[in-house]
Amino acid sequence: MAKMATLDIEGKKYELPIVEGTENELGINIKTLRSDTNGVVTLDPGYKNTGACESAITFLNGEKGVLRYRGYSIEELAEKAHFLEVCYLLIFGELPTENQLNKFHNDIKAQSHVDEDVKRILDGFPKAAHPMGVLSSLTSALVAFNPSSVNVDSEEDMYKAIVKILGKFPVLTAWTYRKRMGLPLDYGGDSLGYVDNFLKMMFKKPNGEYATNDIVLEALDKLLILHADHEQNCSTSTVRIVGSSHAGLFVSISAGIAALWGPLHGGANQAVIEMLEAIKADGGDTKKFMAKAKDKNDPFRLMGFGHRVYKNFDPRAKIIKKAADSVLEDLGIEDDILDIAKALEKEALEDPYFVDRKLYPNVDFYSGIIYRALGIPVEMFTPMFALGRLPGWIAQWREMRLNKEPIGRPRQIYVGETLREFTPINER
Ligand code: CMC
Repeated sequence: MAKMATLDIEGKKYELPIVEGTENELGINIKTLRSDTNGVVTLDPGYKNTGACESAITFLNGEKGVLRYRGYSIEELAEKAHFLEVCYLLIFGELPTENQLNKFHNDIKAQSHVDEDVKRILDGFPKAAHPMGVLSSLTSALVAFNPSSVNVDSEEDMYKAIVKILGKFPVLTAWTYRKRMGLPLDYGGDSLGYVDNFLKMMFKKPNGEYATNDIVLEALDKLLILHADHEQNCSTSTVRIVGSSHAGLFVSISAGIAALWGPLHGGANQAVIEMLEAIKADGGDTKKFMAKAKDKNDPFRLMGFGHRVYKNFDPRAKIIKKAADSVLEDLGIEDDILDIAKALEKEALEDPYFVDRKLYPNVDFYSGIIYRALGIPVEMFTPMFALGRLPGWIAQWREMRLNKEPIGRPRQIYVGETLREFTPINER
C-alpha cells in the first residue's frame, strides 16, 4: 500500500502521498498542497528539508558518509576509473564500453576548438581578475559563438551541446590561467587523454616540450572524479533552475560557475589555503584559530569544515587526505601547512563544539594542498573544482530536461507592507 502522510491545518486533515527512493529515502509529495489547501505553501529557507527533484544520478547519505555515482561507490571509482569514464557514467547512466568511450572522446576532441575571437574577450579582462568571474563570463560568451546550442529539442541536440562544452571548457580554464600568468594561449594535442591534454594546455612552456608527469596526472584525475557530482548542492541547483527556463546548457553552466565561486561552496578550497597560510604567518597557533571559529562574535569560520549534508566524515575528504600524503611524498615536496591542517583536524575532531555540531573536514580541506603540490596557483583552485564538477552539472541539466521538469519557481511568504497609499515626493 502506498505510504501516506497526514497534515493537519487548523483541524482540517490532508492526505499527502509519500515518495520512496531506491535507497528507502522518504519524501512527502506536496505537489498539490497549495491547490488542495487554498494557498498554503511550505517554508524552508536554504531548502534544508526540501527535495527539489527525483534524481537517479548521485546517492549521498550524509549520516553514514556514503557517496555513490550511478550506484558505484566513490571509493571504487576514485581507485579504478578515469575521469572521462566517470563523465560518461554520470551523464549517460552506465560505464562506457571501450568503443563508447573512444567515440565520446573523439566527439569531444572534435569540438575542443574555441573561436579565436574569444581571445579578444579574454584580453579585455584585467590580469588580476579572479579566474572564476572570467570563466563564468567566457562560458556564457560561448553561446554567442555557438547559437545553435541554445535550443535542444532532441537528445541528439543535447549530445552536441554536451560534447561542445566538455571540449571547450578545459580550453577556457587553461586560457584563463595562462592569460593571468602572461603566457601565450595554447591548444593541447589530440593524442593525449582528456586530463593530460588539460595539463598540457595549462603548463606547456612556450619554449619547451610538454612531458606527462604520471604522478601529477593521476592525482588530478582522482581529484576531478571526487568533485564530479554531489547531487543538489548550490551550484547544481543553480544549473537546474537556470536550465529549467530552457535557457540552454552553456549559460546554465555559467550560472553554476558563479554559484560555485562563493567561499561557502567551491570557493572554500581557496579560502582553506589562505586560512592555513594566515595561521602559519601568525606563528602556527592552531588553538587561537579554533577559539576564533567557535566565537559567535567572530565571523571567522574554520574553512573546509562542516557540510550541509555530511554529518559524518566526508568520504571525499578521507580519500583526499590519504592522496595528499602520497602525492607530496611522490613529488618530494614538504609543505608545512599540511601539518597545520592535520593539527586543526585533530583538535576539531576532539572539540565538543565541532563534535556536537557534527562538523567534519569536507572535500575542500585537503584538496588545496594537493593542487598546490601539482603547481596550480591558489586562485585556480575553484576553477579546478568547476572543471571536475562540469560532468555533474551536465548530467543534472540533461536529466532535468529529459524529465521535462517544469520551470523552477519557488513561492514565498510575503512579510512586507500591506496596501498603502502613494505619497507624492514633495509630501514625504
Ligand atoms: N566553523 C565554525 N562553525 C561552523 C562551521 C565552521 N566551518 N560550519 C558550521 N558551523 C556551525 C555554525 O556556526 C552553526 O552553529 P550554531 O548551531 O551554534 O549556530 C552550526 O555549525 C551549523 O552550521 P550552519 O551554517 O547552519 O550549517 P549549513 O548547513 O547552513 O552550512 C556550510 C554548511 C558548509 C556552509 C558550513 O559548514 C560552512 O560555512 N563551512 C565552511 C565553508 C566550507 O568549508 N564550505 C565547503 C563545503 S564542501 C564543498 C562544497 O560542496 O561546496
